Amino acid sequence: MFFRQVLNDDLGCASYVVADGGEAVVVDPKWDVEEYLELGGRHGLRITTIVETHVHADHVSGAPRLAAATGAAVAVAAGAGVERADLDLLDGDAIDVGGTRLTVIATPGHRPEHLSLLVSERTGEPTLLLCGDSLLVGEVARPDLAVHDERAAQEAARSLFRSLRRLLELPDLVEVWPGHLGGSLCGGGSLSPRPSSTVGYERRTNPMLAIENEELFVRRLLASLPERPPRVERTVELNRRGVPVGDDLRALDAAQVRRLLRAGAVLIDGREPDEFERGHVPGSLNVPGNRAGFATRCATLVDPDGETVVLGYDERDSRRLASLLGAVGFTRMRGLLQDGLAGWSRGGPEYRRATAASVDAAELARLVAAGAATVLDVRSVDEWERGHVRGSLHVPWAQLPHRLDEVRAAAGAGPVVVACASGVRAAPAASLLRREGIENVCRLRDGGVASLVYFGVELETGGPFGSRPRPIQDGWPAAAVAGTTRRAAR
Ligand SMILES: [Fe+2]
Repeated sequence: MFFRQVLNDDLGCASYVVADGGEAVVVDPKWDVEEYLELGGRHGLRITTIVETHVHADHVSGAPRLAAATGAAVAVAAGAGVERADLDLLDGDAIDVGGTRLTVIATPGHRPEHLSLLVSERTGEPTLLLCGDSLLVGEVARPDLAVHDERAAQEAARSLFRSLRRLLELPDLVEVWPGHLGGSLCGGGSLSPRPSSTVGYERRTNPMLAIENEELFVRRLLASLPERPPRVERTVELNRRGVPVGDDLRALDAAQVRRLLRAGAVLIDGREPDEFERGHVPGSLNVPGNRAGFATRCATLVDPDGETVVLGYDERDSRRLASLLGAVGFTRMRGLLQDGLAGWSRGGPEYRRATAASVDAAELARLVAAGAATVLDVRSVDEWERGHVRGSLHVPWAQLPHRLDEVRAAAGAGPVVVACASGVRAAPAASLLRREGIENVCRLRDGGVASLVYFGVELETGGPFGSRPRPIQDGWPAAAVAGTTRRAAR
């Protein structure tokens, strides 16, 4: 048997190639399908079947593109609502490639149609579990992406509990290959960056599997959900309809780009914030493309149905960024800025570059002590409650496009410094504010709010009404308590 895990590191998504006898099955293919085609060519494999473990809510599947490139049949769970599906799968169905069998196990929870695949070789013993978004390494999937209210989320969590109990009946040695790794928003906060595990290891160490009481599992799971991926319903709809998203990216000169920008297109500049500050196309949005989560950040701030232009370090980098954006459903990418900023300046004297400003933690601490600036804290509510600058303005960064008036009011009274935990969210936030005409804004560089402590700024904890009550941990299994750390701030 031939087996490969193929990752999209930006989204923390994992897909799989299982092959035997020259035939291959691809499970949960990512948007950029070149790697599967290249693997197939190199190893003499014909991709005959594509299986989706579920309708994805955080990324656009590469299944339609891979099917178009290979002629492979697309198989999904019966009732998944995927228009282009060739095969409907039910619990207990099997897909054979050569002497290898993939057996379907219905594992509802993350979504109602969710399935896992148990891979057995000629001996008949199961060796691999491709479990999509059910069991994850160190975590379990979130149950709230297919539902719209708390009660339905509880029901989904109950389904997930039962699905996981079923998977735990498998032998310890069966390898666990999940649909997501750390960095994904499809699992809880303890999701490990490790690519795989075993049923036995998870049985002994996964905090959520240690909870044997269904009600406790449901409460614990729903109390620790990370932020939702952006535009979940739209992504599900794209995956159901299989809308082809083009990636034929044209190289555009400065005049073409300017026309597009004047017509409302957004230029996404994926370079590092320090370089963006030294010079950029006016009005462009700076979302660093070398940090995981680039595409999700873009989809949070920019309408993926709107026209976009990308700019990376060079043409190859721009195409990489465009592919990452395609994976979250940017359907109207018009092209890349040819020759980057140099190409922009070549447009003529009216093609000026804009600059931006930043301060380091020591400077910001001086400004805070002097009451000479407002800190705009764009971290999540949890991060804010763990420690923030007294008097700072808190707008979680995903809410920023809808709360510009608050920032505008603060900036009218004096400079605003945008801060997060590490700078990854502050840079896009600051560029968004300038794009919206709020000029009196800069960002905190080389660190985040916590680094201000080293320069004498005291952080206060709790929200406007004091600290929120935390889940009661008494009575939980020791492993569960030990594993309650939330996702590290990005
Ligand atoms: Fe998912």
